[in-house]
Amino acid sequence: MNPLTNRKILVTGGAGFVGSNLVRVLVQQYNAQVTILDDLFTGDLQNLVGVEHTFMLGSVEDKALVNDCVKDMDAVFHLASRNIIISNSNPREDLNVNVGGSFNIFEACQKHGVKRVVYTSTSSVYGDPQKLPVAEEDAKRFLNFYSASKFSAEVYANTFFKVFNLPVTTVRYSNIYGRAQSPLNPYCGVIGKFIDAALLGQPLKVHGDGKQTRDYTYIDDAVSATIAAAIYPQAIGEEYNVGTGRETSVNELAETVIALTGSTSKIETVSNRDIDNISRRCIDISKSESHLQYKPQYSLYKGLENTIAWFSNALHRATPAVLPGIAFLS
Ligand SMILES: NC(=O)c1ccc[n+]([C@@H]2O[C@H](COP(=O)([O-])OP(=O)(O)OC[C@H]3O[C@@H](n4cnc5c(N)ncnc54)[C@H](O)[C@@H]3O)[C@@H](O)[C@H]2O)c1
Repeated sequence: MNPLTNRKILVTGGAGFVGSNLVRVLVQQYNAQVTILDDLFTGDLQNLVGVEHTFMLGSVEDKALVNDCVKDMDAVFHLASRNIIISNSNPREDLNVNVGGSFNIFEACQKHGVKRVVYTSTSSVYGDPQKLPVAEEDAKRFLNFYSASKFSAEVYANTFFKVFNLPVTTVRYSNIYGRAQSPLNPYCGVIGKFIDAALLGQPLKVHGDGKQTRDYTYIDDAVSATIAAAIYPQAIGEEYNVGTGRETSVNELAETVIALTGSTSKIETVSNRDIDNISRRCIDISKSESHLQYKPQYSLYKGLENTIAWFSNALHRATPAVLPGIAFLS
Protein backbone atom coordinates (compact mmCIF):
# COMPACT_ATOMS: atom_id res chain seq x y z
CA MET A 1 0.00 0.00 0.00
CA ASN A 2 1.38 3.42 -0.84
CA PRO A 3 1.52 6.23 1.77
CA LEU A 4 -1.63 7.89 0.39
CA THR A 5 -4.18 5.12 -0.30
CA ASN A 6 -6.98 5.10 2.32
CA ARG A 7 -4.93 7.54 4.44
CA LYS A 8 -5.81 10.67 6.39
CA ILE A 9 -4.36 13.60 4.51
CA LEU A 10 -4.25 17.33 5.24
CA VAL A 11 -4.07 19.71 2.29
CA THR A 12 -3.40 23.33 3.25
CA GLY A 13 -4.63 25.76 0.60
CA GLY A 14 -6.91 22.98 -0.65
CA ALA A 15 -9.61 25.39 -1.83
CA GLY A 16 -7.17 27.06 -4.23
CA PHE A 17 -6.30 26.31 -7.82
CA VAL A 18 -3.66 23.59 -7.41
CA GLY A 19 -4.92 22.43 -4.01
CA SER A 20 -8.47 21.69 -5.17
CA ASN A 21 -7.20 19.67 -8.12
CA LEU A 22 -4.89 17.74 -5.80
CA VAL A 23 -7.71 17.09 -3.30
CA ARG A 24 -9.94 15.72 -6.07
CA VAL A 25 -7.28 13.18 -7.11
CA LEU A 26 -6.48 12.17 -3.51
CA VAL A 27 -10.16 11.54 -2.78
CA GLN A 28 -11.16 9.96 -6.07
CA GLN A 29 -8.06 7.94 -6.94
CA TYR A 30 -6.53 7.23 -3.53
CA ASN A 31 -9.71 7.00 -1.49
CA ALA A 32 -8.05 9.36 1.00
CA GLN A 33 -9.89 11.05 3.86
CA VAL A 34 -8.93 14.64 3.14
CA THR A 35 -9.03 17.60 5.51
CA ILE A 36 -8.48 21.05 4.07
CA LEU A 37 -7.10 24.01 6.01
CA ASP A 38 -7.72 27.22 4.10
CA ASP A 39 -8.52 30.83 5.04
CA LEU A 40 -10.20 31.39 1.64
CA PHE A 41 -7.87 34.31 0.94
CA THR A 42 -7.86 33.34 -2.74
CA GLY A 43 -9.48 29.90 -2.41
CA ASP A 44 -13.04 29.21 -3.50
CA LEU A 45 -15.37 26.54 -2.13
CA GLN A 46 -16.84 26.16 -5.60
CA ASN A 47 -13.62 24.37 -6.54
CA LEU A 48 -14.54 21.58 -4.11
CA VAL A 49 -18.10 20.90 -5.17
CA GLY A 50 -18.72 17.14 -5.35
CA VAL A 51 -15.54 16.19 -3.48
CA GLU A 52 -15.92 14.69 -0.03
CA HIS A 53 -13.73 16.43 2.52
CA THR A 54 -13.63 18.14 5.89
CA PHE A 55 -13.08 21.87 5.68
CA MET A 56 -11.31 23.85 8.38
CA LEU A 57 -11.59 27.58 7.88
CA GLY A 58 -8.52 29.30 9.26
CA SER A 59 -4.94 30.33 8.71
CA VAL A 60 -1.70 28.37 8.83
CA GLU A 61 -0.50 31.25 11.01
CA ASP A 62 -2.71 29.88 13.79
CA LYS A 63 -0.36 27.46 15.57
CA ALA A 64 -3.06 25.84 17.72
CA LEU A 65 -5.34 25.27 14.75
CA VAL A 66 -2.45 23.86 12.67
CA ASN A 67 -1.61 21.50 15.51
CA ASP A 68 -5.23 20.37 15.67
CA CYS A 69 -5.43 19.80 11.92
CA VAL A 70 -2.13 17.91 11.70
CA LYS A 71 -2.39 15.66 14.74
CA ASP A 72 -4.07 12.57 13.21
CA MET A 73 -2.68 12.89 9.70
CA ASP A 74 -0.65 10.32 7.78
CA ALA A 75 0.45 12.84 5.14
CA VAL A 76 0.38 16.62 4.71
CA PHE A 77 0.53 18.63 1.48
CA HIS A 78 1.35 22.24 2.34
CA LEU A 79 0.17 24.57 -0.43
CA ALA A 80 -1.32 27.50 1.52
CA SER A 81 0.51 30.64 0.51
CA ARG A 82 0.18 34.35 -0.09
CA ASN A 83 0.89 35.09 -3.76
CA ILE A 84 3.52 37.23 -5.46
CA ILE A 85 1.30 40.32 -5.64
CA ILE A 86 0.41 40.33 -1.94
CA SER A 87 3.96 39.37 -1.00
CA ASN A 88 5.40 42.43 -2.65
CA SER A 89 2.70 44.83 -1.49
CA ASN A 90 2.78 43.51 2.09
CA PRO A 91 6.08 41.74 2.86
CA ARG A 92 5.19 41.37 6.55
CA GLU A 93 2.04 39.42 5.70
CA ASP A 94 4.10 37.35 3.27
CA LEU A 95 6.61 36.59 6.02
CA ASN A 96 3.89 35.64 8.53
CA VAL A 97 2.05 33.29 6.17
CA ASN A 98 4.68 31.92 3.83
CA VAL A 99 7.44 31.51 6.39
CA GLY A 100 5.71 31.54 9.80
CA GLY A 101 2.77 29.45 8.58
CA SER A 102 5.11 26.95 6.92
CA PHE A 103 7.17 26.70 10.10
CA ASN A 104 3.95 25.90 12.02
CA ILE A 105 3.14 23.13 9.55
CA PHE A 106 6.63 21.54 9.64
CA GLU A 107 6.81 21.79 13.43
CA ALA A 108 3.38 20.16 13.90
CA CYS A 109 4.23 17.42 11.36
CA GLN A 110 7.42 16.66 13.26
CA LYS A 111 5.65 16.67 16.63
CA HIS A 112 2.91 14.30 15.44
CA GLY A 113 5.14 11.97 13.40
CA VAL A 114 3.48 12.62 10.04
CA LYS A 115 4.85 10.05 7.57
CA ARG A 116 5.07 12.22 4.43
CA VAL A 117 5.09 16.00 3.97
CA VAL A 118 5.17 17.85 0.65
CA TYR A 119 5.88 21.58 0.48
CA THR A 120 5.07 23.48 -2.72
CA SER A 121 7.64 26.09 -3.69
CA THR A 122 8.25 27.95 -6.92
CA SER A 123 10.68 28.23 -9.83
CA SER A 124 10.72 31.98 -9.01
CA VAL A 125 13.50 31.10 -6.55
CA TYR A 126 15.85 30.99 -9.58
CA GLY A 127 15.09 34.63 -10.48
CA ASP A 128 16.58 35.44 -13.89
CA PRO A 129 18.60 32.25 -14.47
CA GLN A 130 22.12 32.47 -15.88
CA LYS A 131 21.76 29.16 -17.72
CA LEU A 132 18.80 27.28 -19.13
CA PRO A 133 17.25 24.93 -18.37
CA VAL A 134 17.76 25.74 -14.72
CA ALA A 135 18.39 22.77 -12.40
CA GLU A 136 17.57 22.32 -8.72
CA GLU A 137 21.09 23.00 -7.49
CA ASP A 138 21.60 26.15 -9.60
CA ALA A 139 21.93 29.61 -8.06
CA LYS A 140 18.93 31.16 -6.35
CA ARG A 141 18.23 34.83 -7.03
CA PHE A 142 15.51 36.58 -5.10
CA LEU A 143 13.92 39.34 -7.12
CA ASN A 144 10.82 39.72 -4.95
CA PHE A 145 9.58 38.97 -1.43
CA TYR A 146 7.56 35.99 -2.66
CA SER A 147 10.60 34.09 -3.93
CA ALA A 148 12.47 35.02 -0.73
CA SER A 149 9.71 33.70 1.53
CA LYS A 150 9.04 30.56 -0.51
CA PHE A 151 12.75 29.70 -0.44
CA SER A 152 13.03 30.54 3.28
CA ALA A 153 10.34 27.94 3.95
CA GLU A 154 12.33 25.47 1.82
CA VAL A 155 15.32 26.11 4.05
CA TYR A 156 13.19 25.42 7.14
CA ALA A 157 11.79 22.25 5.53
CA ASN A 158 15.30 21.06 4.81
CA THR A 159 16.46 21.92 8.34
CA PHE A 160 13.55 19.98 9.87
CA PHE A 161 14.65 17.07 7.66
CA LYS A 162 18.30 17.31 8.70
CA VAL A 163 17.76 17.90 12.42
CA PHE A 164 14.59 15.88 13.09
CA ASN A 165 14.39 13.55 10.05
CA LEU A 166 11.09 15.15 9.04
CA PRO A 167 10.13 13.20 5.86
CA VAL A 168 9.56 16.31 3.76
CA THR A 169 9.89 16.88 0.01
CA THR A 170 9.81 20.20 -1.84
CA VAL A 171 8.38 20.63 -5.31
CA ARG A 172 9.16 23.83 -7.26
CA TYR A 173 6.33 24.55 -9.65
CA SER A 174 6.73 26.41 -12.90
CA ASN A 175 3.74 28.43 -14.23
CA ILE A 176 0.88 26.01 -13.71
CA TYR A 177 -2.32 26.44 -15.68
CA GLY A 178 -5.61 24.61 -16.06
CA ARG A 179 -9.06 24.11 -14.58
CA ALA A 180 -10.01 26.01 -11.44
CA GLN A 181 -7.56 28.83 -12.20
CA SER A 182 -9.99 31.64 -11.70
CA PRO A 183 -9.48 34.80 -13.75
CA LEU A 184 -11.21 36.57 -10.85
CA ASN A 185 -8.04 35.96 -8.83
CA PRO A 186 -5.61 38.80 -9.74
CA TYR A 187 -2.76 36.29 -9.60
CA CYS A 188 -4.25 33.76 -11.98
CA GLY A 189 -1.28 33.72 -14.32
CA VAL A 190 -0.96 34.81 -17.92
CA ILE A 191 -2.74 31.81 -19.44
CA GLY A 192 -5.92 32.39 -17.42
CA LYS A 193 -5.87 36.07 -18.32
CA PHE A 194 -5.32 35.38 -22.03
CA ILE A 195 -8.08 32.77 -22.26
CA ASP A 196 -10.51 34.97 -20.37
CA ALA A 197 -9.74 37.94 -22.64
CA ALA A 198 -9.97 35.81 -25.80
CA LEU A 199 -13.34 34.35 -24.81
CA LEU A 200 -14.66 37.85 -24.06
CA GLY A 201 -13.27 39.27 -27.34
CA GLN A 202 -11.03 41.66 -25.40
CA PRO A 203 -7.37 42.44 -26.21
CA LEU A 204 -4.67 40.06 -24.96
CA LYS A 205 -2.23 42.35 -23.16
CA VAL A 206 1.40 41.40 -23.78
CA HIS A 207 4.00 43.08 -21.58
CA GLY A 208 7.03 44.43 -23.48
CA ASP A 209 8.11 42.70 -26.68
CA GLY A 210 6.43 39.39 -25.77
CA LYS A 211 9.67 37.48 -26.37
CA GLN A 212 9.97 36.60 -22.67
CA THR A 213 9.60 32.86 -22.12
CA ARG A 214 8.27 30.63 -19.38
CA ASP A 215 7.87 26.90 -18.85
CA TYR A 216 4.10 26.30 -18.65
CA THR A 217 2.88 23.21 -16.79
CA TYR A 218 -0.58 21.68 -17.12
CA ILE A 219 -2.36 21.15 -13.81
CA ASP A 220 -2.72 17.36 -14.13
CA ASP A 221 1.03 17.00 -14.65
CA ALA A 222 1.72 19.21 -11.62
CA VAL A 223 -0.66 17.15 -9.48
CA SER A 224 0.95 13.87 -10.63
CA ALA A 225 4.41 15.14 -9.68
CA THR A 226 3.14 16.40 -6.31
CA ILE A 227 1.62 13.03 -5.50
CA ALA A 228 4.76 11.19 -6.64
CA ALA A 229 6.75 13.41 -4.27
CA ALA A 230 4.74 11.94 -1.39
CA ILE A 231 5.11 8.34 -2.55
CA TYR A 232 8.71 7.63 -3.59
CA PRO A 233 10.99 6.97 -0.60
CA GLN A 234 13.99 8.51 -2.35
CA ALA A 235 12.14 11.86 -2.55
CA ILE A 236 12.45 12.48 1.20
CA GLY A 237 14.74 15.43 1.93
CA GLU A 238 14.90 16.41 -1.76
CA GLU A 239 13.75 19.29 -3.96
CA TYR A 240 12.26 18.80 -7.43
CA ASN A 241 11.50 21.04 -10.38
CA VAL A 242 8.01 20.50 -11.75
CA GLY A 243 7.56 21.80 -15.28
CA THR A 244 8.03 20.54 -18.82
CA GLY A 245 11.55 21.57 -19.81
CA ARG A 246 9.99 23.48 -22.75
CA GLU A 247 10.17 27.22 -23.27
CA THR A 248 7.27 29.18 -24.79
CA SER A 249 7.24 32.89 -25.52
CA VAL A 250 4.34 35.06 -24.42
CA ASN A 251 3.75 36.01 -28.08
CA GLU A 252 3.47 32.35 -29.07
CA LEU A 253 1.14 31.73 -26.16
CA ALA A 254 -1.14 34.64 -27.09
CA GLU A 255 -1.28 33.54 -30.74
CA THR A 256 -2.07 29.94 -29.75
CA VAL A 257 -4.86 31.01 -27.39
CA ILE A 258 -6.41 33.22 -30.09
CA ALA A 259 -6.20 30.37 -32.63
CA LEU A 260 -7.64 27.73 -30.27
CA THR A 261 -10.53 29.93 -29.12
CA GLY A 262 -11.27 31.23 -32.63
CA SER A 263 -11.37 34.68 -31.02
CA THR A 264 -11.40 38.01 -32.84
CA SER A 265 -9.26 39.48 -30.02
CA LYS A 266 -6.10 41.38 -30.93
CA ILE A 267 -2.74 41.35 -29.18
CA GLU A 268 -1.99 44.67 -27.45
CA THR A 269 1.46 45.69 -26.24
CA VAL A 270 1.63 47.18 -22.75
CA SER A 271 4.58 48.24 -20.57
CA ASN A 272 6.87 45.71 -18.87
CA ARG A 273 5.58 44.01 -15.70
CA ASP A 274 6.87 45.50 -12.48
CA ILE A 275 7.22 42.07 -10.84
CA ASP A 276 8.60 38.78 -12.15
CA ASN A 277 9.89 40.74 -15.13
CA ILE A 278 12.49 38.22 -16.23
CA SER A 279 13.44 37.45 -19.80
CA ARG A 280 13.59 33.65 -19.97
CA ARG A 281 12.79 30.72 -17.72
CA CYS A 282 12.79 27.03 -18.48
CA ILE A 283 13.45 24.33 -15.93
CA ASP A 284 15.40 21.12 -16.02
CA ILE A 285 13.11 18.24 -15.04
CA SER A 286 15.61 15.40 -15.35
CA LYS A 287 15.82 14.88 -11.57
CA SER A 288 12.00 14.62 -11.29
CA GLU A 289 11.96 12.28 -14.27
CA SER A 290 14.52 9.98 -12.73
CA HIS A 291 13.44 10.05 -9.03
CA LEU A 292 9.67 10.52 -9.35
CA GLN A 293 9.05 8.74 -12.68
CA TYR A 294 7.57 12.09 -13.67
CA LYS A 295 6.81 12.52 -17.37
CA PRO A 296 4.63 15.46 -18.45
CA GLN A 297 1.65 14.03 -20.34
CA TYR A 298 0.24 17.26 -21.77
CA SER A 299 1.62 19.31 -24.63
CA LEU A 300 0.90 23.03 -24.31
CA TYR A 301 -1.60 22.64 -27.14
CA LYS A 302 -3.54 19.84 -25.39
CA GLY A 303 -3.37 21.55 -22.00
CA LEU A 304 -4.66 24.80 -23.51
CA GLU A 305 -7.51 22.97 -25.25
CA ASN A 306 -8.60 21.46 -21.92
CA THR A 307 -8.24 24.77 -20.11
CA ILE A 308 -10.23 26.67 -22.73
CA ALA A 309 -13.00 24.07 -22.44
CA TRP A 310 -13.09 24.65 -18.69
CA PHE A 311 -13.07 28.45 -19.02
CA SER A 312 -15.86 28.28 -21.57
CA ASN A 313 -18.09 26.76 -18.93
CA ALA A 314 -19.71 29.70 -17.17
CA LEU A 315 -20.01 27.69 -13.93
CA HIS A 316 -16.62 28.81 -12.62
CA ARG A 317 -17.88 32.37 -12.38
CA ALA A 318 -20.67 31.47 -9.92
CA THR A 319 -20.65 33.23 -6.56
CA PRO A 320 -18.85 31.19 -3.85
CA ALA A 321 -21.38 29.40 -1.68
CA VAL A 322 -21.25 27.77 1.71
CA LEU A 323 -21.63 24.10 0.92
CA PRO A 324 -23.74 21.73 2.97
CA GLY A 325 -21.99 19.00 4.94
CA ILE A 326 -18.80 20.97 5.55
CA ALA A 327 -17.51 21.48 9.08
CA PHE A 328 -16.31 25.01 9.73
CA LEU A 329 -14.00 25.70 12.63
CA SER A 330 -12.80 29.20 13.30
N1 LIG B 1 0.02 28.34 -9.74
C1 LIG B 1 1.33 28.42 -10.03
O1 LIG B 1 1.72 28.63 -11.18
C2 LIG B 1 2.36 28.25 -8.94
C3 LIG B 1 3.71 28.40 -9.29
C4 LIG B 1 4.68 28.25 -8.31
C5 LIG B 1 4.31 27.90 -7.02
N2 LIG B 1 3.00 27.77 -6.70
C6 LIG B 1 2.67 27.39 -5.31
O2 LIG B 1 1.63 26.43 -5.32
C7 LIG B 1 0.79 26.60 -4.19
C8 LIG B 1 -0.65 26.71 -4.63
O3 LIG B 1 -0.79 27.86 -5.45
P1 LIG B 1 -2.11 28.15 -6.30
O4 LIG B 1 -1.68 28.58 -7.66
O5 LIG B 1 -3.06 27.04 -6.16
O6 LIG B 1 -2.63 29.45 -5.57
P2 LIG B 1 -4.07 29.77 -4.95
O7 LIG B 1 -4.00 31.20 -4.50
O8 LIG B 1 -5.14 29.37 -5.87
O9 LIG B 1 -4.09 28.80 -3.68
C9 LIG B 1 -3.54 29.14 -2.44
C10 LIG B 1 -4.54 28.70 -1.39
O10 LIG B 1 -3.99 28.98 -0.10
C11 LIG B 1 -4.98 29.61 0.69
N3 LIG B 1 -4.31 30.42 1.69
C12 LIG B 1 -3.61 31.57 1.50
N4 LIG B 1 -3.13 32.01 2.67
C13 LIG B 1 -3.53 31.11 3.62
C14 LIG B 1 -3.36 31.02 5.02
N5 LIG B 1 -2.71 31.96 5.71
N6 LIG B 1 -3.88 29.96 5.66
C15 LIG B 1 -4.59 29.01 5.00
N7 LIG B 1 -4.81 29.06 3.67
C16 LIG B 1 -4.27 30.10 3.00
C17 LIG B 1 -5.81 30.42 -0.29
O11 LIG B 1 -7.08 30.78 0.19
C18 LIG B 1 -5.87 29.45 -1.47
O12 LIG B 1 -6.94 28.56 -1.35
C19 LIG B 1 1.32 27.82 -3.45
O13 LIG B 1 2.15 27.39 -2.40
C20 LIG B 1 2.13 28.55 -4.49
O14 LIG B 1 3.18 29.32 -3.90
C21 LIG B 1 2.01 27.93 -7.63
